[in-house]
Amino acid sequence: MSTQPRSADRTVVVTGASSGIGRATARGFAGRSWRVFGTSRRDRPDEHGVTMLRLDVRSQDSVASCVDEVLRRAGRIDVLVNNAGVMHSGIAEETTQAEARAVFDVNFFGTVRVTAAVLPGMRARGRGHIINVGSLAAWIGEPGEAYYPASKAALARYTEALRHEVRHRGVAVCSVEPGAFVTDVVDASSNTAATIADYDGLRERARETLNRSLRGGGDPRKVADLIVRIAGTRRPRARYGVGPEALLVPRLTTLLPQRLVEHLLRRGYRLDKG
Ligand SMILES: NC(=O)c1ccc[n+]([C@@H]2O[C@H](COP(=O)([O-])OP(=O)(O)OC[C@H]3O[C@@H](n4cnc5c(N)ncnc54)[C@H](OP(=O)(O)O)[C@@H]3O)[C@@H](O)[C@H]2O)c1
Repeated sequence: MSTQPRSADRTVVVTGASSGIGRATARGFAGRSWRVFGTSRRDRPDEHGVTMLRLDVRSQDSVASCVDEVLRRAGRIDVLVNNAGVMHSGIAEETTQAEARAVFDVNFFGTVRVTAAVLPGMRARGRGHIINVGSLAAWIGEPGEAYYPASKAALARYTEALRHEVRHRGVAVCSVEPGAFVTDVVDASSNTAATIADYDGLRERARETLNRSLRGGGDPRKVADLIVRIAGTRRPRARYGVGPEALLVPRLTTLLPQRLVEHLLRRGYRLDKG
């Protein structure tokens, strides 16, 4: 990575900084003397050099007032880390459209809303970084969690397109795609309100597999360190995998024959057991 000179007066906004990857990232920036604004839906005390502001990425008004507040206090936003996100587990047929939309409203449209509010200032100044926290899940549709990977795949394609659109305006856009990391998301896995008996066995196996993988995950500070490094890079790559499986799975899904990839996944979830 080619790095930019470090500057104590650079300002970063990290959405969803009350826990997990966002909290570690906000603290990581603060530890390197950045001016850091973190966000949460609730009032939270400032700590570890992070100024906490209220933000619900589902609300246009909330986004506008949060971004206005940062600009009023700091004058500009150099780096935006779109990290706020929710997990959702549920069999596709059992998930209502309202439940599916709720996942997209945070993971996809939440990032779109915050980006739309921050981007004009970055374009006007001819510089800025937007780092979108996607997921390894974007690479492969796994049973029992259709809408989470769908929202992250949508985010990945949006991020790629935006990257091309604003590159010549001096704004660098990229995705960070973590594998499994131990955060509050482990306990936040939500179920659908309705269930269909035909899926009872599969639903249980899918939940077990997902929770096992999240519990065995890495330390979120690893993701935070990567994000802080990217923010200091003049020309970031389009995407960064982080965590062992996030480096391996994208390679395997592109190199191995599709039937083999599907076979391995079906075996992992014991799908052919009914
Ligand atoms: N942990 C993993 O293994 C993993 C893997 C791949 C990708 N990711 C991604 O990493 C990001 C952070 O997840 P995490 O694992 O650190 O989970 P987490 O500990 O549950 O943190 C999620 C953060 O998002 C915020 N948030 C949730 N809904 C929000 C909304 N409507 N508006 C604004 N903020 C909202 C939460 O803040 P408040 O509740 O305080 O508002 C919280 O700070 C997510 O985008 C997730 O998809 C995580």
